[in-house]
Amino acid sequence: MTASSAQARAHPNIALVKYWGNVNDALRLPANPSISITLDGVSTLTRVCFDSTLSADQFFLNEQSRSGPALERVSNHLDLIRDLSGETRNATVRSENTFPAGAGIASSASAFAALTLAACKAADLMLDERALSRVARQGSGSAARSLYGGFVELHAGHNDEACYAEQLAPEHHWPLRDIIVIIDTTHKVTGSTSGHHSSWTSPFQAPRVADASRRASICREAIRTRDFKVLAEIAELDSNMMHAVMLTSTPPLLYWNPTTLSVMQTVSVLRQEGCEVFYTIDAGPNVHCITTQQDETTVQGALKTLTGVKDILRCGVGGSPTLL
Ligand code: PMV
Repeated sequence: MTASSAQARAHPNIALVKYWGNVNDALRLPANPSISITLDGVSTLTRVCFDSTLSADQFFLNEQSRSGPALERVSNHLDLIRDLSGETRNATVRSENTFPAGAGIASSASAFAALTLAACKAADLMLDERALSRVARQGSGSAARSLYGGFVELHAGHNDEACYAEQLAPEHHWPLRDIIVIIDTTHKVTGSTSGHHSSWTSPFQAPRVADASRRASICREAIRTRDFKVLAEIAELDSNMMHAVMLTSTPPLLYWNPTTLSVMQTVSVLRQEGCEVFYTIDAGPNVHCITTQQDETTVQGALKTLTGVKDILRCGVGGSPTLL
């Protein structure tokens, strides 16, 4: 057989308890557990074709050929799957995102989840979800969580077997909404791979990691009981703790801009006024505002008029990835 191909679609996710820092960078073993919501309405579609006529791997993102570090990262991930499966052929990888680049959605999560699923299928490698999540994790830590729909936890640990993701609750458990406030669409200066590495230069990283199991268990319980107030408090604390580490790393990472702060303040005021909403921010200036179906319109109305807000994207809780 000259070629074997498969195609998969995966959704990005937004973490409520954030993963920041590895105990092993090569294996991407996260230093702390993380919990996220898989997002619907946005996805990455990836086709992988192993082809004996190719002399090297190829990678196309949104129909544009990519070389350099982007191709290298995809190729390294294919090597991992080739090692596990015995597949020896090079591959063409074609990926398309349904969301704009730089929208404040971590595209690496949906990208490496879809790539893992499609490449394993094309290489005839049969793995269960837990094993697939461990493979995806080695491409991008947050990608392990995109192997499932709904509410998902990625476990931390000191070896590959311990660091797998699992579903805490399915997507229909709690119909939360994520209002993504887009402030800046330019590419982030410092990506998460180097951020994970430099996190250990911050004096706040060790205490943040030491307290993470406590935050994760509060978050897990708030999801189980659908307690919005508790979830709001713990998720904002966790996001602020990660940004405190970022700000105090060497070199310091400041991802916020004045509009980011005004969104954070507006969210706090809305909550004081009785709205169910909280913010959480990844490695960029854009803000994810998590709310309920009931308060979604009020929250969107208050945020869209703020100076510096470029756009607003609305997502619900998404399902697991699919092979097409
Ligand atoms: O998967 P990575 O290496 O892009 O890291 C994700 C880091 C954050 O998005 C900031 C937090 C998280 O848990 O998703």
